Amino acid sequence: MMIEPVVDIFVDPAWIEQALRADVAEGLSARPKELPPKWFYDDRGSELFDQITRLPDYYPTRREREILEREVDVIAERSGADTVVELGSGTSEKTRIVLDALAATGRLRRYVPFDNSEATLRNAAADLAAAYAGLAVHGVVGDFEHHLCHIPGGGCRLIMLLGGTIGNFAPAARKDFLAAVASTMAPGDTFLLGFDLVKDPDRLIAAYDDPAGVTAAFNRNVLSVINRRLDADFDLGQFEHEARFDPDEEWIEMRLRSRCSQKVTIGGIGLTVDFASDEPMRTEISAKFRPEGIASELASVGLAMERLWTDARDDYALTISRMVG
Ligand code: SAH
Ligand code: TRP
Repeated sequence: MMIEPVVDIFVDPAWIEQALRADVAEGLSARPKELPPKWFYDDRGSELFDQITRLPDYYPTRREREILEREVDVIAERSGADTVVELGSGTSEKTRIVLDALAATGRLRRYVPFDNSEATLRNAAADLAAAYAGLAVHGVVGDFEHHLCHIPGGGCRLIMLLGGTIGNFAPAARKDFLAAVASTMAPGDTFLLGFDLVKDPDRLIAAYDDPAGVTAAFNRNVLSVINRRLDADFDLGQFEHEARFDPDEEWIEMRLRSRCSQKVTIGGIGLTVDFASDEPMRTEISAKFRPEGIASELASVGLAMERLWTDARDDYALTISRMVG
């Protein structure tokens, strides 16, 4: 029997507008200018990200799938879970690998997708509820920097953060996020984390700068979100997509570089901003990790890494951890 999905909403249009105003006012007054990456993912942004995951040079999605397919029975067994909570669930495509394995153990009861993109989450929730008879889908439309405390409790939960999304937090925000995840975990819950590994910078850059311009369109999409929601007049054609590897921080930095000297007005917050010709604006970081670094970051919030798996080429890693003591 199909169970109708339930969706709780903590990020609604009013919340988005208020949070976006604050982020844009702060980011565009900063030096260098920056915009936070959570605003990439409106309907169009989610669709563009989905295309990115299929690009030949964007290896993370394929490597993560490879590891999941190979190790999923071990993951299902170790987790002992009846509930899967997925943070930044997006289209929930790789999720099916995990749900299939848990369904085969006979324990699977509930799936809790958590994402700030309501339309994408609703579609995924409807698809999964239809595909898995008897699965209770309880979606949460929330921001993982604010609403993790609203994730429903109960049962034995496998909490997942896939897609290398952990790399999109700045270091301090990443620590806060991991601490918040740990504080939502009950004894018996496990945390499955997917992260991209440090590698040859040329391959990293190729993954974030495709010749067809899909990544560039995704990057510029943040400007159309601001145009639409805050009545701004960014001219998307006047900003160039750029992906750089910072070898000291070991992260990819995505930027939009102003092609000319220009003025942009953000009517909704009464702000006019000057961009110099060639001025860069940071839109996203995507940190690359070493297993020791992730182990110590998990340990610092009370999580002990139990297993770590990489793909055949050591491009990408998945790890499962649980609270110590
Ligand atoms: N897990 C999927 C999608 C990764 S893309 C995969 O592996 O392919 C990152 C996802 O996180 C997007 O669906 C985006 O909407 C969501 N997201 C980004 N910032 C967020 C935030 N602050 N709070 C909640 N979700 C967020
Ligand atoms: N979590 C993804 C990553 O860091 C997000 C992403 C992929 C992304 N490609 C992008 C973000 C291009 C901005 C621009 O790999």
